Amino acid sequence: MEQRVFMLSFLVLLLGTLFEVRGWPAPNFCHDYDCPEFEVVKKNEAFEERVYVESRWITTKVPSTKSMDLIQGFSRLKQYCNGKNEQGTQVFTKTWPALITLTEGEDGSDTNVSVSWFVPVNTVLPKPTDPLVTEESRPAGTVYVKVFEGSITAWHSYAEELHEALVQEGTSFKPHRYTGAGYDNPMNFFIHHHNEVWLYADN
Ligand SMILES: *[C@@H]1O[C@H](CO)[C@@H](O)[C@H](O)[C@H]1NC(C)=O
Repeated sequence: MEQRVFMLSFLVLLLGTLFEVRGWPAPNFCHDYDCPEFEVVKKNEAFEERVYVESRWITTKVPSTKSMDLIQGFSRLKQYCNGKNEQGTQVFTKTWPALITLTEGEDGSDTNVSVSWFVPVNTVLPKPTDPLVTEESRPAGTVYVKVFEGSITAWHSYAEELHEALVQEGTSFKPHRYTGAGYDNPMNFFIHHHNEVWLYADN
């Protein structure tokens, strides 16, 4: 009898684990990699309104949105993940998306650009040795998303399109943070690229 109770609790535990892992049906564009969980609450031709859970990122500041600067930023993140950190440990990198974020100051005077990689919830991040690499947390909340194909480098003009679509819908706000999200290696020219631009409702 006791053994049966034991087996049963084991089964329950096992099922619980399975369902926890498979709890969120991640979209195909995540390619079975870890990506931040969201729910689509509204969808029309111009954009999607998603509610994201809180998410973690490793981020590094770059001087501009020029390709060379972005590549340099991503290679800095790669070095960190490959062991250039205080513990000398590897960081799991089978995640999407990779982000480019442009933040404008309130008065438009200063602009910061950064690139980021998604970090799954339970990842233990080693301490960076490079002060330019930082851990970032983005709070749960509403994100307006426009999906586009082709090159991620066009993300900023799609951000403007998205903003216009939101204004037409009556969702009027002045964004000061623009994020481009890529789910494919930009160097792979032979695949269909799924890219997105994000505008945070709370900025
Ligand atoms: C840009 O970065 C600097 C230094 O990290 C910070 O003081 C400033 O507030 C940032 N500006 C914006 C608009 O994020």
